[in-house]
Amino acid sequence: MKKILCIVGTRPEAIKMAPVILALKKTHWADVRVLATAQHRQMLDQVLNYFDIKADIDLDIMRPNQALTTLTARLLLKLDGVLVGEKPDAVIVQGDTTTVMSAALAAFYHQIPVGHVEAGLRTGDIRNPFPEEANRVITGKLAQWHFAPTEEARQNLLKEHLPNQDIIVTGNTVIDALLMTASMDLELGVECDPEKRLVLVTLHRRENFGEPFRSICKALQRLALDNPTVQFLYPVHPNPNVKDVAYEFLGSVSNFILCDPLDYAPFVAAMKEAYMILTDSGGVQEEAPALAKPVLVFREETERPEAVAEGVVKLVGSNYERIIKEVQLLLDDAGAYRKMARGVSPYGDGEAADRIVRTLQKYFS
Ligand code: UD1
Ligand code: UDP
Repeated sequence: MKKILCIVGTRPEAIKMAPVILALKKTHWADVRVLATAQHRQMLDQVLNYFDIKADIDLDIMRPNQALTTLTARLLLKLDGVLVGEKPDAVIVQGDTTTVMSAALAAFYHQIPVGHVEAGLRTGDIRNPFPEEANRVITGKLAQWHFAPTEEARQNLLKEHLPNQDIIVTGNTVIDALLMTASMDLELGVECDPEKRLVLVTLHRRENFGEPFRSICKALQRLALDNPTVQFLYPVHPNPNVKDVAYEFLGSVSNFILCDPLDYAPFVAAMKEAYMILTDSGGVQEEAPALAKPVLVFREETERPEAVAEGVVKLVGSNYERIIKEVQLLLDDAGAYRKMARGVSPYGDGEAADRIVRTLQKYFS
């Protein structure tokens, strides 16, 4: 048996790693161990519970309003101790968070091979998104296997001179998780007005903190006041830099429902019910096109250009007037809406986890 240590820290990592963990558990050769750094506490637990995955090791790292340097330092020290004790044959990480970069570095120091799920996403600007682009570049340099979701991601890695034979295009495991979930009977569990079109909102990016975030919230407030027949639903990220501003601007707008983060299944239900989605999330940019939902992204650039090229995701940044114009267009213009609601899924076919497991199996046999 080969000991495979799957490391997850935040909500999106757990959603996208779950299909890999579940697929590894079905094999006869892998002794799967799950390490939760718990960089996110409540949101990570929500996802692990939903997929019925129990962490074998829990570092309980999260602190309120944690700073990047202390988070990284604490992660490195604790991960080092685990790697010394566990001696895994491989470490698998997913995405671009501080957990991912720290885990890849700690494993590298112990000369343990690292598999990077969702490798090769790049904006080309090391400061944007912050700090994720740096996390991806560092993890890419350290990893042994690069599980790229798309051909474009593979090309990004080749441009960085990573060996062709170590890059495997698998699709994104987010589509595996989405398909597992979307086909079930789902309940949103939040009372929205069924007569109104639903606009789903999520926001959390660090580079939007401060003025950009206030500008986005002001635009959302204006849109809700101008469109009383539209229902806005916004499950608010618990980061205080997000939550405080969101409640300040939107907390008392009658057609704006603010709620705690939704469990994954109710969130998928919300995406399915939505007329359109407004977000700065990476994962939501990948899921929504597969559900034929138009997405407007509150960012100036994206490392997920495939859906933008398809015309089903549009970047609108954080400018007040631009956001109002683009949202209003999709609310008012059926033709513009139809062009973006086409149900193209450039990020995967639901088989990514199997491809990842087959690569690992081949290596170890
Ligand atoms: C992190 C990732 C980001 C990812 C996002 C997904 C880093 C630096 N950032 O951002 O790449 O897109 O997760 O959501 O790795 N908090 C809670 N409960 C939770 C989770 C967070 O209270 O379950 C609060 C805490 O006060 C915590 C703060 O949010 O300190 C920030 O969490 P952190 O993981 O540092 O950053 P995110 O903004 O969540
Ligand atoms: N999500 C969720 N509940 C919510 C909001 C989002 O389960 O209330 C899921 C969503 O379906 C997607 C993931 O969380 O799979 C995205 O996480 P997030 O936006 O926090 O991070 P990012 O993808 O930007 O790193």
